[in-house]
Amino acid sequence: MVDVKSICCIGAGYVGGPTCAVIAYKCHDIKVTIVDLNQARIDAWNSDKLPIYEPGLEEVVFDRRGKNLFFTTDVDAAILEADLIFVSVNTPTKKTGMGAGMAADLAYIEGATRRIAEIATSSKIVVEKSTVPCRTAESMRTILEANSTGSIHFDILSNPEFLAEGTAIKDLLNPDRVLIGALQTPTGLSAQQSLANVYKHWVPEDRVITTNLWSSELSKLAANALLAQRISSINALSAICEATGADVDEVAYACGRDSRLGSKFLKASVGFGGSCFQKDILNLVYLSTQLNLPEVADYWHQVVLMNEYQKKRFVRKIISTLFNTITNKRIAVLGFAFKKDTGDTRESAAITLIKDFIQENAHVAIYDPKVEPEQIYMDLMEPGVVDTRKQVEKSISICGDAYEACKGADAVVIVTEWDEFKSDQLDYQRIYDNMHKPAFLFDGRLLLDAAQIREIGFKVHIIGKNELAGTA
Ligand code: UDX
Ligand code: UDX
Repeated sequence: MVDVKSICCIGAGYVGGPTCAVIAYKCHDIKVTIVDLNQARIDAWNSDKLPIYEPGLEEVVFDRRGKNLFFTTDVDAAILEADLIFVSVNTPTKKTGMGAGMAADLAYIEGATRRIAEIATSSKIVVEKSTVPCRTAESMRTILEANSTGSIHFDILSNPEFLAEGTAIKDLLNPDRVLIGALQTPTGLSAQQSLANVYKHWVPEDRVITTNLWSSELSKLAANALLAQRISSINALSAICEATGADVDEVAYACGRDSRLGSKFLKASVGFGGSCFQKDILNLVYLSTQLNLPEVADYWHQVVLMNEYQKKRFVRKIISTLFNTITNKRIAVLGFAFKKDTGDTRESAAITLIKDFIQENAHVAIYDPKVEPEQIYMDLMEPGVVDTRKQVEKSISICGDAYEACKGADAVVIVTEWDEFKSDQLDYQRIYDNMHKPAFLFDGRLLLDAAQIREIGFKVHIIGKNELAGTA
């Protein structure tokens, strides 16, 4: 069995960066080199301002950088030196060609695999860390084997990442489980043990689960689909709550107290976002279709459709409440990230909402504590549209704080559940005083105490709550 002393991670993103930084933090005897093709990203990892915001990440990186943790664009040197290589490049949903809009684009995975095959002069354990469709490891193995010569041997493992952004470091330091899939061959099992031993530096043995390759790959897609399904389920119920007078928080609490259901991931919202849920479910849908299981595909697809419905429903509610038009009205949007404690905006509900507001000719004032203005422009621009940047600039202002965004607004819309937007953190009286009247407030995150906010004078709508409930 290989005693891993040197690890290379290809892809210095949200997954590869934090994961391998924590390995370096917990395993001082292992040299960890994180590589990326993107020079700017590597420069940022080597600077005082890391390229991603994640609570606790700075402490971990600053503690080990230059000791046993390195960031570089010299991919080949890192591959040559490593016993074990994590492939952690992105796998976006395909935009064109076969499976467009559903299947994962594996071009980066294939590129990284080919590079490993080309460069390696000794045997390697290659670990698929990116979330991929089932059986991707098989393709990687074929590429590696076709290119390996003589005594060089490659073992492939699947080791999906379950960290959630915003709590990545906590999740990595204290994972519910670490999953390692391997081919059930003597060398496959031995490679599996080598990687398990890395994690055993800090993860209790009973939390390291070993399975075959396909179970591991499918478990990652399945876990995300099951989590997202819970949110779509509670969001579907939120529509019923609004129509009846049931309160979605009360329903979630009452249901979540059943230990078979549990309380987590039952928070109704304006819709889930993030780089994984939609992409992974669509992957599962595509897989089901390819396996000629259309009913299964439809079943999972509904989770995504419900998420789209929830966003559209919220927009419709806002427009109808504002007397059926938001043309030339100022809408303040609080939060742009897909959830709190991250600067990541991938698939954020804010993007869908704001694009709709712009289509309705509203002026949108945006504030988010962590998202860079440039990112907001990029997310709102429509590819292929002439002067799209100019149009976006005309339709939005990016503000330095919540008060500035809400000043002169007709409506405030809470899209991300940042703690600083809570009623005891933000002075809602001050916001109210500076708004157009009637002043509307739409809470897409069930963050506020409606009674308290109504007391100030706001007209309030909270997802999953009926304004008139309890008063009839
Ligand atoms: C991504 C996917 O979203 C996730 O599903 C998968 O499990 C892992 O990859 P993330 O780390 O969040 O997760 O992506 P991203 O932040 O885009 O990082 C990927 C990095 O790989 C980028 O920095 C990119 O520059 C780099 N990359 C990509 C390479 O170094 N080489 C390549 O060939 C392609
Ligand atoms: C998710 C999985 O949790 C993680 O295990 C996997 O590795 C990657 O995908 P992430 O996307 O970072 O992690 O965040 P998560 O906390 O799962 O939230 C996803 C979205 O769901 C966010 O937009 C969040 O606001 C929303 N959400 C979450 C709800 O609307 N309600 C909830 O109860 C929980």
